[in-house]
Amino acid sequence: MLLRLGKLLNARVLVTGGGGLVGSRLAALLQRVGAAVTVLDRMDAYPEPAHELFGAARSGARLVVGDVCDRDTVAELVRGADFVVHAAAYADVAACTRRPDIAFRANVCGTQVLLEQIAAHPVRRLVLVSSAAVYGDGLPGVEGPQRFREDQCLFPLSVYANSKLWAEHQTRLMLGASSRTEYAVVRYFSVYGDPQIPKPGSHSWMVPWLTLQARLGRPMRLNGGGVQVRDLVHVDDVAEATALALVEEQMAEQTVNVGTGTPTSVREVADLVAAHFPGARRVTTPRPEGDPLGGYACVERSWELLRWRARTGVREGIGRYVSWLLATPRAVPRWLAEEDA
Ligand SMILES: NC(=O)c1ccc[n+]([C@@H]2O[C@H](COP(=O)([O-])OP(=O)(O)OC[C@H]3O[C@@H](n4cnc5c(N)ncnc54)[C@H](O)[C@@H]3O)[C@@H](O)[C@H]2O)c1
Repeated sequence: MLLRLGKLLNARVLVTGGGGLVGSRLAALLQRVGAAVTVLDRMDAYPEPAHELFGAARSGARLVVGDVCDRDTVAELVRGADFVVHAAAYADVAACTRRPDIAFRANVCGTQVLLEQIAAHPVRRLVLVSSAAVYGDGLPGVEGPQRFREDQCLFPLSVYANSKLWAEHQTRLMLGASSRTEYAVVRYFSVYGDPQIPKPGSHSWMVPWLTLQARLGRPMRLNGGGVQVRDLVHVDDVAEATALALVEEQMAEQTVNVGTGTPTSVREVADLVAAHFPGARRVTTPRPEGDPLGGYACVERSWELLRWRARTGVREGIGRYVSWLLATPRAVPRWLAEEDA
C-alpha cells in the first residue's frame, strides 16, 4: 500500500476537516509518504482536549484554522494544492437534526465553496468524503440487515445523510466530464478507533460511547435494544482507503464503499466491550430519530477499484480502543464524567 502511495511524494494535498478524527489520521499518513499536507479546519467540533488528542498539529502538516465557507481562504489553499480531500463536515447525525442550519452551512455551502474554487483552479483529483448514511435503511420490503451496494437506490433518512447525498450529486455535476479535475467519492461506514471521543448530545460512534460508559461504571445504553447493525471500520483502514482514492487511476469519477463487509450489531459491540470490564451492565433506551437500522458494505467495488480491504477486525480494534482509553485518562471528556449517570 505504501508503495502505491509513493505517487504522492512531494504532492501538495489539502485536507479539509484534517483536524478531526479521520482527517488527522489521513494527514499523518500522507505526511509519512512524503506529501506536503495542508489542513483546513475550524478546530471546534469537540470540547477540549479532543482536537489536541487527534494530533493534527503534531503530524507535520501545515494547519490553517479556518472555515471551508470562507471563499478567500479556500481559494488560496486550492490554488496551492495538487490534490484535495474534502472531509470537513458537521459530522454528526443528531447534531445535524438539531441544527439543520449549521449542517446546511457546513456540509452544503462549504462543499459548494470548495467546488467553485476547484472549478476555477483545477487540481488533479478531489476525494469527497461521503457516508453510508445515504443508504438509510436500504431497500424497502427487505427483511434483516442489508448489504449496501454503491449503485442501489438511496434513501437518506436524516438531515446529515441528505447533505452528504447532495454533496455527492453536486460534485458529479460540477466536476463531471468537462472538468479538468477528477473526482472520487468514498462512502465511509461506521468509523471507530483511538482517539475517537463522542460529541455531547450525539448518539453516533457506539464504540467510544459504550466503552466510556463501561469505563465510568455506568450501564451501557443500547438504543432500541442494540439490534441496529453497523459495519465498523477502523480509522487506520479508512485513512488508507482515502489516500488510495487519491491515486488509484480507476477511481476517477467513481464511488466506493469504505467498510469491512461484515455486519456487527450494537449488542455485539457491547459484549466485546464488556469482556474488558467485568460486571459491566446494559440497559435498553429508546431508539433516536434518524438512527438507521443499518447494514453493511458490499466491498466488491472497493476491492476492484481501490485494491483495498480493511485489515482490522472488530475484536482487535475494540481491544486496541479499550487499551488506549485505559492508558489515556485525559481522554475521558469532562462533560461526560460530570454528567449524571
Ligand atoms: N466517523 C464516522 O463514522 C463517519 C462515517 C461516515 C462519514 N464520515 C465523514 O467523514 C468525515 C470526517 O468525519 P470525522 O469522523 O473525522 O468527524 P470529525 O468531526 O472528527 O471531523 C470533521 C472535522 O471537520 C471540521 N469542520 C466542520 N465544519 C467545518 C467547516 N465549516 N470548516 C472547516 N472545518 C470544519 C471539524 O472541526 C472537524 O475537525 C466527515 O465528512 C464525516 O461526515 C464519518
